[in-house]
Amino acid sequence: MAKNSGISGSGNTITRQIGLSLGADICWAAAYEDILARLDLAIPMGKDDIRFEVSRVTIEPFDLRQPVRYDLVIDRLTHWMHTSREWIKKAVVMDGLYVLNNPWSLQSMEKHTTYAAMMKLGLPVPDTWMIPPKQYSPDLADAPVTLSRYARLFDLGKVGAELGYPMFMKPYDGGAWVGVSRIDDEAALRAAYDNSGQRVMHLQKAVSPFDLFVRAIGIGPQVHIAKYNPDAPLHARYEVAFNFVDAEEYALLTDMCLTINAFFGWEFNSCESLRKDGVFYPIDFANACPDFQVTSLHYHFPFMVKNMLRWSIYCAATKRPMRQNLDWQPFFDVAKRDLPYRERLRAYAAIANERMETQRFEAFCQEHLSHLDEVVLDYFGTPRAKDVVQQKVKALFPPHEVDRFTDHFYGLVQFWRKTETERLATRRAPAQAGRQETTKIKLVRNT
Ligand SMILES: Nc1ncnc2c1ncn2[C@@H]1O[C@H](COP(=O)(O)OP(=O)(O)OP(=O)(O)O)[C@@H](O)[C@H]1O
Ligand SMILES: [Mg+2]
Repeated sequence: MAKNSGISGSGNTITRQIGLSLGADICWAAAYEDILARLDLAIPMGKDDIRFEVSRVTIEPFDLRQPVRYDLVIDRLTHWMHTSREWIKKAVVMDGLYVLNNPWSLQSMEKHTTYAAMMKLGLPVPDTWMIPPKQYSPDLADAPVTLSRYARLFDLGKVGAELGYPMFMKPYDGGAWVGVSRIDDEAALRAAYDNSGQRVMHLQKAVSPFDLFVRAIGIGPQVHIAKYNPDAPLHARYEVAFNFVDAEEYALLTDMCLTINAFFGWEFNSCESLRKDGVFYPIDFANACPDFQVTSLHYHFPFMVKNMLRWSIYCAATKRPMRQNLDWQPFFDVAKRDLPYRERLRAYAAIANERMETQRFEAFCQEHLSHLDEVVLDYFGTPRAKDVVQQKVKALFPPHEVDRFTDHFYGLVQFWRKTETERLATRRAPAQAGRQETTKIKLVRNT
């Protein structure tokens, strides 16, 4: 039977179709599908009861005029699978599809634009230079004449001296640390540039030494903040840590993440910041479609699955229109006002919260998804959840390490269940304490 968390609508049952556009994804998609099935929702919206079906988007020829059957797609492919990207763009334009993330924004914004835009908004992005590439592709027929006419010879040492050491050289667009190097002096700068080939590079002043590295992962208006250790092996970079920021820092990181995501139309993105002398410097926040694997996120994985369920169910149920254009002017209008940094960030976040319908979203979750926490808690204790973790481990680790790492990641998920159980208990506790108080008073009155 369908679980109905509100008063049932008296009319039609309408099924919203959620599509998962996947690549190598295994674990989050399986958990998402399993939990959605367990929720078995029938949400009353006006006269209708809204139900949900999830399926995986396939890659095949398509007629541009042929309507798509999905209401919402969670997309993991736009940044590299062009057939899927173009199918999604067609479906947004022609069929009103809602997609996480905006494919045009994802296609056109690299690190470079995000640095420039957030500098314009006044965020403390470290000083950054762009340098032309060391080499050009021989396929660019006009390159020799263009360069001989217009490329200025430059002294890399001077750029280095102006920016100051230590610095990072990194591609203006990529990810996964490809081509990233820390540079401590001019000789290292020259060597790194000589090895950079055809890549267009940034030089960015290092935040050094920093005392905290955090990743703020936004899904719609929800932001999850995790401590991160870039020097740890890949599977241990996200840390299980608590109370590493205070309430004001937490609010600031949340506002920063929401600002960035609303500005670029990203509803699933990770923002990296480093803290030095009490200031959080954002250093990499063009990570739309971030890592969503239990083998990286472990303890944090259930939070992310839950946040993704909440936001996608909300968007699909309410049929909130997708914002197709970015409309930066309201942010720039705030930037023009001479506000102190924290107030300015609050004003940007207010725009973000309005665009992401934060209040309406929270009310929706309270009314229709209040049982989600318990369902997720229960699910991650099942043999099926362990199997899902193992499937992902098998895909990434050599056979002799599968059992060990399955136990490791599943163990951290169980630790999440422990802390989550405690969190839910403290959430219930005030109500229980209130009830005890009432009982005591009654007893006193009866005697
Ligand atoms: N300005 C900086 N100051 C200090 N450390 C930095 C800076 N820029 C980059 N780094 C270090 O280099 C790493 C990789 O840089 P960056 O995140 O920009 O590249 P990436 O290829 O996008 O990585 P990822 O895919 O992990 O996000 C960072 O995680 C950080 O440890
Ligand atoms: Mg990064």
